[in-house]
Order: sequence, then structure tokens, then C-alpha cells
Amino acid sequence: MINIILFGPPGSGKGTQSEKLIEKYKFKHISTGDLLRSEIAAKTSLGIEAKNFMDKGQLVPDEVVIGMISHVLEANPQAKGFLFDGFPRTKAQSEALDKLLHEKHTEISLVLALTVSEDELVKRLLNRGLTSGRSDDVNEEIIRARIIEYENKTMAVADYYKQFNKVIAIKGEGSVNDIFNLLCKEIDNKL
Ligand code: AP5
Ligand code: MG
Repeated sequence: MINIILFGPPGSGKGTQSEKLIEKYKFKHISTGDLLRSEIAAKTSLGIEAKNFMDKGQLVPDEVVIGMISHVLEANPQAKGFLFDGFPRTKAQSEALDKLLHEKHTEISLVLALTVSEDELVKRLLNRGLTSGRSDDVNEEIIRARIIEYENKTMAVADYYKQFNKVIAIKGEGSVNDIFNLLCKEIDNKL
């Protein structure tokens, strides 16, 4: 079983590359952002709580997302590997994930970290905001708030996995296909 974290700031291409990776490798894709947006669309109490944070570009509390992840792992006992997208986002989430995977006698194999300049991130997200309908893409202020949350809380996730030598940085600028090929090369090395 191979479990991968696709790591990177908002707009770095995690969702775009995840779609291609799950098609090729048949991983179970777990995007906490997508799960939270489904909860919002279904107007659940979890979704209503999460929306307050997401609309401001802030992270949702750890216990909320860790609970969701635990549920998805339990619901997919047959998965041949998980691709985590947008999770973990804090050191506490990383530790919780390691514990949950350990209970299943597995672990994170690789953290693939997409690197993209801040100017390019803002440009991509403002552009997507023209059509995405995502409330956190609507203006530069919220987009910058997401990037600040990433710097203050999420970069610690890469530091956490570096101590286990699991992090590989991949340049996330250039064509989608070129970036995909770089990611595949690293995954194939682990298979
Ligand atoms: P989430 O949904 O995870 O969003 P994000 O990480 O902020 O980033 P995006 O999904 O916007 O970007 P991406 O890296 O997937 O890039 P994409 O492929 O879309 O989280 C949203 C919110 O939910 C958070 O702010 C938080 O509130 C909450 N949340 C989620 N998970 C949480 C957690 N674990 N803990 C706490 N809170 C959590 O690409 C972006 C754009 O760029 C697209 O338009 C795409 O077409 C374009 N693009 C992609 N690749 C390229 C390329 N190579 N060249 C040019 N353009 C490209
Ligand atoms: Mg995404």
C-alpha cells in the first residue's frame, strides 16, 4: 500500500494533479476541501460551522477535519492507497494522520510538495475565481489570507515529514503534463 500527501500552497495545483494521479494509479483521493464543500452544499451542521472559517480564508479547526478523515479511512478498507490533497494542514493533523494510519498497519510513503511563487498563486486563484463560484476565490484579500494561513500553520507539515526524509519538492510551474510526469517519476520510484 502506498499513501501519498500532495502538498502545496493554495492554487499550487493539488486538485489538478490529483485528478490525473488517481486516474493513473487508482488511489482513493481524499481532499478535505472537497469534503468540506460537500458538507456546506448539504447544509450539515459541520458544513455550517466550517463555512465561517473557509469564507475568511482561515483553516477549519483540527478536530473537525481529523474526524472527517477518520471516517473516510474507516469507510474505505479496500483502498490500495490514499492520495491526501489539502490534508494534513497543521502539525497536529500530521500527527493524528500518522496515528490513524499506524492503526491500519500502514504509513505515509511520500510527501510531494509543489512549489509555486506567490505571484503565480494569486494570479491563478483570481483567474479561477471568475468562474469557480468558490467563496474563497472572490478577492485578493481572502486569497492572501489563505496564503498567510499556509505560511503560519501549514508549512510546519513539510518540516514534520522532513524529519522522516519523506518530502520531495517538485516545481509546480510549467505545463500540467510536465508537472504530472515529474510526480509520476517519484511515485514510480516508490512502487
Ligand atoms: P482547499 O480546497 O484544500 O483549497 P486550497 O488548498 O486553498 O487550494 P486550492 O484547492 O484552491 O488549490 P489547489 O492546490 O488544489 O490548486 P488547483 O489544482 O485547484 O481548502 C479550502 C479551504 O477549506 C481552506 O482554506 C480551509 O478553510 C478549509 N480546509 C481544507 N482542508 C483543510 C484542513 N485539512 N484543515 C483545515 N481547514 C481545511 O489549481 C488552482 C488553479 O490553477 C486552477 O484554476 C487550475 O486550473 C490552475 N492550474 C493548475 N495547475 C496549473 C499550471 N501548471 N499552470 C497554470 N495553471 C494551473
Ligand atoms: Mg484543491
